[in-house]
Amino acid sequence: MPEVFSPIRWKSNQLELIDQRALPDREVWLNVTSVEQTAQAITDMVVRGAPAIGITAAYGVALSCLEISQKKSKEWKHLLSKDLELLAQSRPTAVNLFWALERMQSVLNEAESPSQAFEIALTEAKMIHQEDYQMNLAIGEYGSSLLPDSAVVLTHCNTGALATGGHGTALGVIRSAWQKGNLQHVYANETRPWLQGSRLTIWELLKENIPCTLQADSAAALLMKSKKIDWIIVGADRIAANGDTANKIGTYSLALLAKAHGVKFMVAAPTSTIDMQLESGDLIPIEERSAGELWSSASKTDIPEKLNFHNPVFDVTPAGFIDAIVTEKGIATSNERGLFSQAFSTWFQA
Ligand code: MRU
Repeated sequence: MPEVFSPIRWKSNQLELIDQRALPDREVWLNVTSVEQTAQAITDMVVRGAPAIGITAAYGVALSCLEISQKKSKEWKHLLSKDLELLAQSRPTAVNLFWALERMQSVLNEAESPSQAFEIALTEAKMIHQEDYQMNLAIGEYGSSLLPDSAVVLTHCNTGALATGGHGTALGVIRSAWQKGNLQHVYANETRPWLQGSRLTIWELLKENIPCTLQADSAAALLMKSKKIDWIIVGADRIAANGDTANKIGTYSLALLAKAHGVKFMVAAPTSTIDMQLESGDLIPIEERSAGELWSSASKTDIPEKLNFHNPVFDVTPAGFIDAIVTEKGIATSNERGLFSQAFSTWFQA
């Protein structure tokens, strides 16, 4: 990997992850030495963001191969497929996880021994990691070309270096625009309930002195009414074949608000986030997380037994509300006459 910040490192046959639960207060790196710890780290949001989850799972497969090679079992292929299954259970919505596991499985079909499997898995995981960074640079170039001079944008969740192999997707577009000199200001939603915006996006923006303003998610409508916002730029966890896009909860409301206020709406993601198996966003599994994520911002007491809660952590924005989907392969604009699907087919044929 080139010398860029990435939340994922491989060192001395161990995986190292920056613990995103501790940011922005503390920069803590956790050592991950087994496939079980890898799956748990994904479930617990030590690492999060669709591309970063996929990269981490790929290194998790390498850890699995390493452990299996030390056991010297004849059943190694069976053990490996159980580990792949364990990783697949770690989170349901980001398709990059399943994309990475399938890619790992397909290269591992060639392996003739556990030690060879480890070599193959590690090489492939490093390649997935590096490719993700390169794809983000391309997304940044394409996405920033859509922005006017002195652009003012709003983003949601964290889609930066922390969520990817480096640079970021939506935040990568913002970063590239800043580097090219055509970004004036970024508004960042705090992104309730887990606060990916206030804890992670702001951490990244402040580090690079990119002019930014933090706001409550519920301030977005007023912002669009009272200030000229050129684009809302978000990432994606899974894009269906028709362009419907699952992303962090609150994205759909932003798209509706954007339409009402004449603000353009961009989704930036690598093609590994497009799931051509799913015809529409209705088929995307939406993760529900615990009551604790909601209750902890209200009180330090135990969650009341009688509390009903609703904590879906993603929603689906219909393709018709999206002006542009930007990937490393190019820009697909407007969903009239199925243009997103046409662009996707071209990208996947190339
Ligand atoms: O629950 P998270 O933090 O994993 O959700 C992350 C998002 O929704 C991001 O917008 C998406 O994964 C794109 S990250 C480049």
